[in-house]
Amino acid sequence: MHKIAVAGTGYVGLVAGVCFAEMGHNVVCVDIDVKKVKLMESGTSPIYEKDLEELMQKNYNAGRLQYTTDYTSAYQDADAIFIGVGTPEQSDGSADLSYIATVARQIAESIEKDCLVVVKSTVPVGTNDKVEQFIHDFLVNDVRVEVASNPEFLAQGSAVHDTLHAERIIIGTESEWAEDILMKIYEPFDLPIVSVNRRSAEMIKYASNDFLALKISYMNDIANLCELVGANIQDVAKGMSFDERIGSKFLNAGIGFGGSCFPKDTKALEHIASQHGYELRTVKAAIDVNKDQKTMLYKKARNRLITFSGLKVAVLGLTFKPGTDDLREAASLENVPLLLEQGADIYAYDPVGADNFAKVFPEGLNEKGNITYVDHIEDALKDANVCFIFTEWGEVKAVTPVTYKELMKTPLVYDGRNIYSVSDMKDVGVEYHSIGRES
Ligand code: UGA
Repeated sequence: MHKIAVAGTGYVGLVAGVCFAEMGHNVVCVDIDVKKVKLMESGTSPIYEKDLEELMQKNYNAGRLQYTTDYTSAYQDADAIFIGVGTPEQSDGSADLSYIATVARQIAESIEKDCLVVVKSTVPVGTNDKVEQFIHDFLVNDVRVEVASNPEFLAQGSAVHDTLHAERIIIGTESEWAEDILMKIYEPFDLPIVSVNRRSAEMIKYASNDFLALKISYMNDIANLCELVGANIQDVAKGMSFDERIGSKFLNAGIGFGGSCFPKDTKALEHIASQHGYELRTVKAAIDVNKDQKTMLYKKARNRLITFSGLKVAVLGLTFKPGTDDLREAASLENVPLLLEQGADIYAYDPVGADNFAKVFPEGLNEKGNITYVDHIEDALKDANVCFIFTEWGEVKAVTPVTYKELMKTPLVYDGRNIYSVSDMKDVGVEYHSIGRES
């Protein structure tokens, strides 16, 4: 059992901390936000994530998991300190490392025994070298401290499962001492471990995420071509998926990738390459395709309807994917303002993301349009002139084709997630437009 401190209680930090506690380690999670710490102590998770709250309560009650704002006491006698703070995108596409620098300095000023600092946040290649130097520059006590890279591969909505059953753990270290500590911490997880040097570990994270982003943009590009040549992207994807070299996952064409990772990490890697005088053409292409993909359906609908002024528009799904209340880079954030500018009367439904969305677009008059949030899909669809599907929530998938026909004033559906079969929609008399399939 190790004494572990985790800096930052966002998706990466909190989930890691809780899972380390679940594996028997003694964990203290550090955050500067007093309210958030109180909330977590009361057993409530600040993020919506399956199984997280239950494990928070279980491990807190077992005394293996604590929360604090007092970083000094958390760091001073830790065997390892994991950094899981955010690295938000800056206007030039580069990652903002100021939160990491703040934590690194706090660590340097607090630790009183030998300690491994492990960076979990996604950081540009070479950052961990700098963090180590930075900690040594500010170190107060005469202790051994090294920095290791341990990138995170969890996906939102399945974060706990992804951590406890990860396909691989990547550890990037520069000494046997550091490698040994991380190996021991991960021993109880019983998962494959790939041990490489620090820079390779940092690169594995970007290369993996950007590869997945490329895969999605490639499928979206092919989907757009499918529409033009009369092929069906879902059949094409199915046919491709039997080739094990291609695989069956992440072949779903749709309204483009969103979230806090792919959009940020594609731009960050492109930025890293350009700083080295290299143009990363494949990743650039993935970014370009994604940008156009987000408003593809809106443009099609506008051509069809001429204007949205005075129309009741049902919007189903606001989050960037199901299973999360996160709106970052969601297609809804691009499309809703366009619809409002055009004077649409929007009725929006999302099972968990509506409150967050209402903070950006408050209920009522916005621009020339209006937005109302509804708890039931039927209220959005009733007498609607057009419906957009942006997130494939189970609740949305459960709506039968005939429901659109019966409830909507004009059954016109633009589906960014290819939820329905084209023929099922046609058979009940719904005019159905989706991605990469015939209309
Ligand atoms: C992603 C990666 O999947 C994780 O492995 C990684 O750890 C994480 O980023 C991160 O860097 O922290 P996440 O952003 O939570 O996880 O969500 P994904 O499930 O990967 O979906 C990202 C976006 O791609 C969503 O908007 C989703 O709708 C879209 N997507 C995904 C598609 O359009 N088609 C697909 O086939 C798959």
